[in-house]
Amino acid sequence: MSVGQRPGERAEIPSHVAVIMDGNGRWAQLRGLPRHEGHRRGLEALRRTVKNAADLGIEVLTLYSFSTENWRRPAAEVSFLMTLLRHFVEKDLAELSAANVRVRVIGGREDLAPDLLRLVEHAEAATRGNTGMILVVAFNYGSRDEIVRTARQLAADVAAGRISPASIDESSFSLRLDTGDLPDPELVIRTSGETRISNFLLWQAAYAEFVFTPVLWPDFDRAALEEALAEYRRRERRFGGLAESSARNVGVA
Ligand code: IPE
Ligand code: IPE
Ligand code: MG
Repeated sequence: MSVGQRPGERAEIPSHVAVIMDGNGRWAQLRGLPRHEGHRRGLEALRRTVKNAADLGIEVLTLYSFSTENWRRPAAEVSFLMTLLRHFVEKDLAELSAANVRVRVIGGREDLAPDLLRLVEHAEAATRGNTGMILVVAFNYGSRDEIVRTARQLAADVAAGRISPASIDESSFSLRLDTGDLPDPELVIRTSGETRISNFLLWQAAYAEFVFTPVLWPDFDRAALEEALAEYRRRERRFGGLAESSARNVGVA
């Protein structure tokens, strides 16, 4: 058994962990602080989590930072969240790259301000050769939007005669999603006690295990991450088949 592993737990660390980082506003409200203070502290939790995940051997970490629905928030909050992303890319890129982290950004790009778009493209290009953990930032990301963009591309290819409708299957469709060649997440964590998916990785998380924790995102630390991983190890994954104990008991003559 490996360190920290309890009887009945599997040893494995999921290769792809995705996180819905929720609860910044409530964290601030509980302290009588403005919401943006919660977001600022949320960025610190993000930095901590990137380090902890890499340290624990997670290969791909996806963080839901801004959804296609988050544009509905007041303009000042939206603009603060954009500024935070700018800060993160500008200030952290060198350190991420030194840690061999590869940065990927998923989500619609056409709504991003030109300078932010350039920063995102630069971060991806500058870290493309890195071979350590892949950090996927879901920004202006919505799963329905991603699926629709993919369907539109495939329809254009069919209309132009580049591919036939029959050639579209689950794997070719998956490859065209923003997540392209990335493995599906085995574990999706949502903080803040909400138990919904909020338009995150609908396709990719088809067989993911979900762990919901009441911890508010700015408080998410190494212990909370390790607890989610321990919960994952206690789950039995079936993928539509049978559990090992049931498979021995099928009773076919
Ligand atoms: C998560 O915290 C950050 C984003 C969605 C950008 P929230 O801002 O949603 O915090 P709550 O849910 O209001 O507490
Ligand atoms: C989901 O959180 C989006 C992100 C964490 C970026 P929200 O706070 O926007 O989700 P809802 O509105 O509670 O579903
Ligand atoms: Mg929220």
